[in-house]
Amino acid sequence: MFNRRTLAQLMAAAALAPVSAGAEGRPPLSRIAFGSCADQVKPQPIWDAILAYKPELFIFAGDNVYGDFHTEDASHLKRAYAMAEDIAGYSKLRNTVDHLAVWDDHDYGINDGGGDFPHKAVAKELFLKFWKAPANDIRRTREGIYDSRIIGPPGMRVQIVLLDLRWFRSPLKASDQRGAPGKERYVPDPDPAKTMLGPVQWAWLAGELRKPAEIRLIVSSTQVLAEGHGWERWGNMPLERQKLYDTIRDSGAKGVVLLSGDRHVGALYRETPPGLYPLYEVTSSGLNMVFWAAKEPGPNRLGALYPAANFGVVEIDWPQHKIMLALRDKEGNTRRSAVLSFDELGLAQ
Ligand SMILES: [Fe+2]
Repeated sequence: MFNRRTLAQLMAAAALAPVSAGAEGRPPLSRIAFGSCADQVKPQPIWDAILAYKPELFIFAGDNVYGDFHTEDASHLKRAYAMAEDIAGYSKLRNTVDHLAVWDDHDYGINDGGGDFPHKAVAKELFLKFWKAPANDIRRTREGIYDSRIIGPPGMRVQIVLLDLRWFRSPLKASDQRGAPGKERYVPDPDPAKTMLGPVQWAWLAGELRKPAEIRLIVSSTQVLAEGHGWERWGNMPLERQKLYDTIRDSGAKGVVLLSGDRHVGALYRETPPGLYPLYEVTSSGLNMVFWAAKEPGPNRLGALYPAANFGVVEIDWPQHKIMLALRDKEGNTRRSAVLSFDELGLAQ
């Protein structure tokens, strides 16, 4: 017998169903929120502001719990998910707001982890269980947890591309001056044999970007455009970052905006790769994990870092052909923002 909670849970699960004609028939998205880095052990007061914002879709951009583990039973990750279930705001959002999720290192199970993590299959099982992936979910049939959706009617479609930056990723090159500014943990590695996404996910992404959609939000748990720091970022493998730009350009996809997390600090970024329109990136981190003393010289950043709890928003004004990207604080106040026109992202007016 269904009680109200299980019904709401079923509805939430339905929102996670694979792309279908139903998703295309849905009303256009105009209010999307996202966030990352939510430590289940610490208070999470920001959910009140996120719920009050009334997003039509919320994207969990990784480090959705902190559950690093070292044994096959994954007991710490299981406990982390169980604790997240008991956080009222977190739970209310999952039960009442359409949402999508990717993981980052701490819900994958190992700090800065990559493809060589021996327990990744267990972590994936727990991820799909917590996020209520249905039995026929396509992610059960392939490696990793990458996925995508297209939501909205023709002419007002938003594609959400959820990348998996963990399952396939080659080892990073450790810093030769650990802790030094700009080389805190890692240095760029131009080794052409190394991969961020792995060949199968790369081929999938190239195909996804050729599907018809107007706005495309590419969710990468780790930062794409950020320069000037030696933590995890696509710049750790500069050839792979170039491949991402090339893949976007060669697909002809317009309207791409990047969303990321992981850093424990929020910021907006913009860079214009050769032959491409300006790419904007919103890094929202963390929902409650914040590195107050973060420093990062730039150069691709728009404005100052925002080193306090935050969530990101993407507001699409379809009639005015504008997109607002912003970071909001735990009271819901806008702290950083940028407004861009469809035209700027290559979209015909
Ligand atoms: Fe992370």
